[in-house]
Amino acid sequence: MNQKSISISYKEYTLNEGLDSRDMELLERAQLAAKGSYAPYSNFNVGAAVRLSNGEIVAASNQENAAYPSGLCAERVAIFYAHARFPEASVEAIAVTASVDGHICETPTYPCGACRQVLAESEMRAGKPIKVIIGGEKFTQEMESIRSLLPFTFDNLPKR
Ligand code: THU
Repeated sequence: MNQKSISISYKEYTLNEGLDSRDMELLERAQLAAKGSYAPYSNFNVGAAVRLSNGEIVAASNQENAAYPSGLCAERVAIFYAHARFPEASVEAIAVTASVDGHICETPTYPCGACRQVLAESEMRAGKPIKVIIGGEKFTQEMESIRSLLPFTFDNLPKR
């Protein structure tokens, strides 16, 4: 038996102080996108903004449905739309933020497991890390790669 361990590192910015200006812009786009959220069931409004290698920013929000599982998180709406719209571009960064009753949540809202898997595949497609910026009212956290949030990614289908 070998005992193994994985460690992750991330940055934390109190009140967004010191956040890179392009990342701040991405976070603001995510905050704006959260206003377009359709979340009558959870009242949890999430915004995500994706920065692409071609310079485009694609922003989106969570979209719910009366048949609950049919809804989709903001991150996946943004990532899938970005790939559908710009299939040749790769994802460089994603910013995520959430609000309730118009107030940004105090602490960061981490992407759910399914979104992490989708982001991991985007990262594999790109062949380089996707920066993840998760904004809260009190502090924002930043990971250099989605691997920090999903170190063991499903990636075991036979290669063709
Ligand atoms: N949600 C997101 O859009 N992103 C996350 O990272 C977590 C959860 C959405 C899904 C659902 O519409 C609502 O938030 C409550 O779970």
